[in-house]
Amino acid sequence: MTKEKLIGTVMAVNSSSLSVVLNQGITSLSKELNGKVYYIGQLGTYVLIPLGHTTVVAVVSDLRKTDIAENGRSTQRYMMSVSTVGTVKEGKFERGLAVFPTVDTPVYLAEDSDLRAAFSVFQRFDFSVGNLTLFEHERAYLDPNRFFGKHIAVLGSTGSGKSCTVSSIIQKVSFLKDSNVIILDLHNEYARAFPKDSNHLNIAEVELPYWLMNFEELQEIFIDEREPSSASQITVFKDQIIASKKAKNPSLASYITVDTPVYFDLSEIRARMQFLDTERITGLGAAGVKDGPFYGQFTRFLVRLDSKLNDSRYAFVFKPKTYTHSETIKDLLARIFGIDGNAQVTIMDLSGVPFDVVNIMVSLIARLTFDFNFWNPNRREYPVQLVFEEAHNYLPASSQGSAAARRTVERIAKEGRKYGVSCMIVSQRPSEVSETILSQCNNYVILRLTNPVDQNFVRKLVPDTFAGLIEILSSLRQGEALVLGDAVSMPSRVQLDYPSPEPDSADIKFFDKWKQSATSTRIDDVVDRWWKQIRT
Ligand SMILES: Nc1ncnc2c1ncn2[C@@H]1O[C@H](COP(=O)(O)OP(=O)(O)OP(=O)(O)O)[C@@H](O)[C@H]1O
Ligand SMILES: [Mg+2]
Repeated sequence: MTKEKLIGTVMAVNSSSLSVVLNQGITSLSKELNGKVYYIGQLGTYVLIPLGHTTVVAVVSDLRKTDIAENGRSTQRYMMSVSTVGTVKEGKFERGLAVFPTVDTPVYLAEDSDLRAAFSVFQRFDFSVGNLTLFEHERAYLDPNRFFGKHIAVLGSTGSGKSCTVSSIIQKVSFLKDSNVIILDLHNEYARAFPKDSNHLNIAEVELPYWLMNFEELQEIFIDEREPSSASQITVFKDQIIASKKAKNPSLASYITVDTPVYFDLSEIRARMQFLDTERITGLGAAGVKDGPFYGQFTRFLVRLDSKLNDSRYAFVFKPKTYTHSETIKDLLARIFGIDGNAQVTIMDLSGVPFDVVNIMVSLIARLTFDFNFWNPNRREYPVQLVFEEAHNYLPASSQGSAAARRTVERIAKEGRKYGVSCMIVSQRPSEVSETILSQCNNYVILRLTNPVDQNFVRKLVPDTFAGLIEILSSLRQGEALVLGDAVSMPSRVQLDYPSPEPDSADIKFFDKWKQSATSTRIDDVVDRWWKQIRT
């Protein structure tokens, strides 16, 4: 380590973060070494602390000026906090430390060449997602088994580059022979990014029939728990579903539970419940006619049921034309996973799904995927990644509102790893997403994040020692991210590769569009589409 690179000394040590005081001689926070200018104390840059035969690598997470008492006099000095990330020994980098630096150990500036060993740890997998921002010509290598094998969070304010990041990362695995990625696409952005090897399913056309829902999902749609009669509604609805499932599937009758994904007839159940709702019983003697046990208890339930059954927007769920008996589940699964499970990227286009059932559709798709692998004896050979775009919309933090999707994904977040199902959670409002889900993520790709509430939330999610790095989030460029987690050798600022082709999510150039004179918007066309619910 040359004297030229010496910048300071360790002042205090506390678990994995160290306080370093910069040398008195340092007045300018930049230094030129071998033709490149390095910035001292810049957040996210690295320093080296030699310890015997090894060198500790640490990342700067805080810089300030403080008064220090020295020889009875108070002087102003630069102080920085650094978080240790690993050690280099004989040219090899290892995460974590066996021995900690102590007070008074010298601290050196890290040159690009010093860090090459650290950043190339995962080079052998030949999987990189972008360029390291702080190093010229260095790629950001990841361990793709760790990255895809556990849950990933892609977070960032609107327009920071999340959809591009997801497209770019998935494009890198989409050509693999047997990759399995299912993207829940709320705005129909991804079809354009995967023109070839993808399986594009417009859910409103494909149909996701009601009989695939479990009871929790059906209950969320049809039962309002605030109603005094909700307990009777639940009991009777459940009994009727079981009875209908058994009647329609006699060969499976002894196995059937309320959640078995087999056909049942909702209109028959409706008729039966309407009968019970209006039933009058003839009593004996003077009592005459009296109300049946459920008289009037299902009236509101039936109104809700009818409003869904009679609304053409929900026909793809409640009036299926294709999937009308139990065997058809196999065709639906073949469409989702490809025949023999060989679809590489499946884009579930939810853009045409009415807003109030999106949650249930997400829950259904996620649960079908999870349950499929749960029962798949070959699951270890068939890992699937589920991408949840705009997760704050349907995986809310609070227990209010829709719970089915959140509960399903929480289960996958907790147990998915065992069954070969991992999640990529994408959101612009991390503080509004279920903490149970986000805290199960092992890798974080955090793009520019400007909202302080979200920044604080993310600070709590990442390991304590890197909390200081969150400060840099508001200054990241479009498509630039802080990548943290066990798939990277150390926390890194990465300019992610631009996807090719890009998703249909580009910023609209307002000013340029306003400058054009010809307008191509026809009001009658828009209104007609609005009426007929046709979006392109
Ligand atoms: N890696 C990148 N390099 C350069 N520019 C990028 C990169 N990624 C995204 N951008 C730019 O940022 C714009 C917005 O990207 P994107 O649609 O991915 O944002 P987003 O975070 O998904 O936004 P929203 O939250 O609104 O969905 C893109 O049109 C593109 O111009
Ligand atoms: Mg987006």
